[in-house]
Amino acid sequence: MKITTVIGARPQFIKAAMVSKEIAKNNTIDEIIIHTGQHFDENMSSIFFEEMDIPDPHYNLGIQSLSHGAMTGRQLEGIEKILIEEKPDWVLVYGDTNSTLAGALAAAKLHIPVAHVEAGLRSFNRKMPEEVNRILTDHLSDILFAPTKKAVENLRKEGIPEEKIILVGDVMYDAALHFADLADGKSNILAKLNLETKKYILATVHRQENTDDSKKLKNIFSGLASAPMPVVIPLHPRTKKKLQEYNIKLNGQVNLIDPVGYLDMVMLEKNSYKIVTDSGGVQKEAFFYKVPCVTLRVETEWVELVDLGVNVLVGSDQEKIKDMVKMEIASYTKKKMYGEGNTAENILRAIIKIYN
Ligand code: UD1
Ligand code: UDP
Repeated sequence: MKITTVIGARPQFIKAAMVSKEIAKNNTIDEIIIHTGQHFDENMSSIFFEEMDIPDPHYNLGIQSLSHGAMTGRQLEGIEKILIEEKPDWVLVYGDTNSTLAGALAAAKLHIPVAHVEAGLRSFNRKMPEEVNRILTDHLSDILFAPTKKAVENLRKEGIPEEKIILVGDVMYDAALHFADLADGKSNILAKLNLETKKYILATVHRQENTDDSKKLKNIFSGLASAPMPVVIPLHPRTKKKLQEYNIKLNGQVNLIDPVGYLDMVMLEKNSYKIVTDSGGVQKEAFFYKVPCVTLRVETEWVELVDLGVNVLVGSDQEKIKDMVKMEIASYTKKKMYGEGNTAENILRAIIKIYN
């Protein structure tokens, strides 16, 4: 069997790492990796392939830094050419980026079955580019690998046939289990940044709705400046550009650093007092490492975290951010909500079963 994996953005490298490891264990399956090139800085792309031992991509389309339509369109064209040549039995796509949609659409039009990892997540906010990508990808896919019960429920409500939906858990939980101890041995980021365990806040900001609105971005950085301890921010290149464009000055103990590799990130997450983020992946990692999370959005796809009280939604409201960086938030539940850490195995088993 030949599987073509389409990836392009940071969180997809992390998700695909675990499934690629599983594919590599099976000598009857070939994996062809297409990297769309959407993320391209060393610390947004190649560092993950190296650290997480992901096979080198067979193709890199180098399509990046374009508007949504131009990026998705050019990716679609590039992926289609490769699929015609490679003739895979399956196309595997991850998450909700433009690379996800382009991969699913190219395959569906060529009648190649598509499997979507992280299917069924919804924010119910169609202004988010990710929401559009998710809905379309789910409706183009032949197998929908849902990470949570809520995701399954969302797919059922949209009329996706039951036999296409498989609840497998979350591959990011597999990654967290696999790499957390490794990070202890390999990362020296805390010493490098002179940080003491549980005495700093870790923050990430990159969502279009926050970065492309100068008022919201200013509010977020003012809110973070009020924290009574250092705030470390591995800064996404999108946000870096916008801080410069809007001439936003940093105050308080806010400390910007370049984006870090996964092992350094895990280390920063595990040891932080609190995490403030608008990232999808980081919200869950906060939960995996039992760190309270403040989310810089008004809605989330990972609603079970909010229901449990371990994640608080504050949007870009400066006052709420100020309160929440100081307030106690629950950080732990015994409840297992993201599978057993064997999601990659579940995914591959299902693909093989359907193929045979
Ligand atoms: C993309 C995804 C988003 C995901 C995020 C993960 C879409 C629509 N958005 O957003 O869902 O949460 O990735 O991080 O697909 N840039 C660099 N170097 C890089 C990567 C990006 O300079 O390595 C710059 C680009 O030139 C561009 C900006 O960052 O100006 C945004 O990049 P883009 O890939 O369009 O979207 P993200 O915000 O990264
Ligand atoms: N991440 C990382 N280095 C960083 C910031 C994030 O390795 O400097 C990891 C993080 O641990 C998580 C993933 O990237 O696994 C989340 O990606 P991102 O926030 O870019 O996208 P999202 O999950 O919001 O789509």
